[in-house]
Amino acid sequence: MTKITAAITAIAGYVPEYILTNEELSRIVDTSDEWITTRTGIKERHILKAEHEGSSYMGAKAVEELLRKTNTRPEDIDMLVCCTVTPDHVFPATANIICDKIGILNAWGFDMNAGCSGFLFTLSTLSQFIKTGRAKKVILVAAEKMSSITDYTDRNTCPLFGDAAVAMMIEPNTEGLGLIDDILHVDGIGRKFLYMKAGGSCYPPTVETVENREHCVYQDGKTVFKYAVSNMADTAAEIMERHQLTANDIAYLIPHQANLRIIDATGKRMGLTDDKVLINIAKYGNTSAVSIPLVLMDFEKQFKKGDILIFAAFGAGFTWGAHYYKWAY
Ligand code: UT7
Repeated sequence: MTKITAAITAIAGYVPEYILTNEELSRIVDTSDEWITTRTGIKERHILKAEHEGSSYMGAKAVEELLRKTNTRPEDIDMLVCCTVTPDHVFPATANIICDKIGILNAWGFDMNAGCSGFLFTLSTLSQFIKTGRAKKVILVAAEKMSSITDYTDRNTCPLFGDAAVAMMIEPNTEGLGLIDDILHVDGIGRKFLYMKAGGSCYPPTVETVENREHCVYQDGKTVFKYAVSNMADTAAEIMERHQLTANDIAYLIPHQANLRIIDATGKRMGLTDDKVLINIAKYGNTSAVSIPLVLMDFEKQFKKGDILIFAAFGAGFTWGAHYYKWAY
């Protein structure tokens, strides 16, 4: 029997127009372009300014463009899954809202929350539906309005995050391309080091939670950094070993874009030269679940069919993992 894998067959994205530069940020909080650049690699990030529009606004624009680009009718989509930590509402799922906005009427779907590893967890999940034949035309949409949960009085976190959405068509492949293998992990030890304290069922909104800015991202940067460096690098190295891949076999590492120093450490651990490590953090900052899809979108033209890519991410939870992926077009 022919083996079926799940493969990305097209990508489209939406990045909001407004660019928040390090210079502008340094007029808002006590920071500098020099600090942000040397500690993170970030120069600017895009921010969605449209009032009362959330992640579905950007996600729908990305999906619309994907359908146009691939000449696909909305009614031909079987499933749509949205990975996000910034859903429009606690419920209903942002996936439902995007389907409604686009007229995707014959699909089912849901949201996935795996922090900055959201893309890896979602692609792995969707690949199960593709492999079994349960779904044939699936849209994965990563959409984050991180600015909606960023405290612009906190210099520890506000330089880090940006907004964007990317949609991908995921389809069956019988040529041995697409998602070949994955390693995924969760560890709740991380749940107090990177989280949004209030707004869920433990701490529903009150005047106090708002005054204490508990509806924004809290991060113990140093601790998260330590776990991110070791776990992301270890998992990327582990998937290479499992498949006897050498640095020469790998066309590119596509890492989650949280911090240039974490990315460098992962590339070095894998024995990769700098030209094989794809980076666009300077332009977008940390866009959480959208960051790997944004790199794939930006560098799509330089991939060749059969190129071996390693995706690696680390995020809130903690969640982390790596994918062994063969580019399919
Ligand atoms: O995407 C999900 C996973 N997230 C990550 O992987 C992020 C991991 N963490 C990091 O990337 C880094 O920890 C940060 C970029 C968040 C922070 O960098 P750091 O080198 O760990 O800095 P720090 O938090 O240890 O702060 C060092 C100093 C402190 O001053 P003192 O105590 O040494 O006097 C901070 O107050 O830098 C100060 N600082 C700043 N200074 C200027 C913190 N933020 C800023 C700022 N501008 N924006």
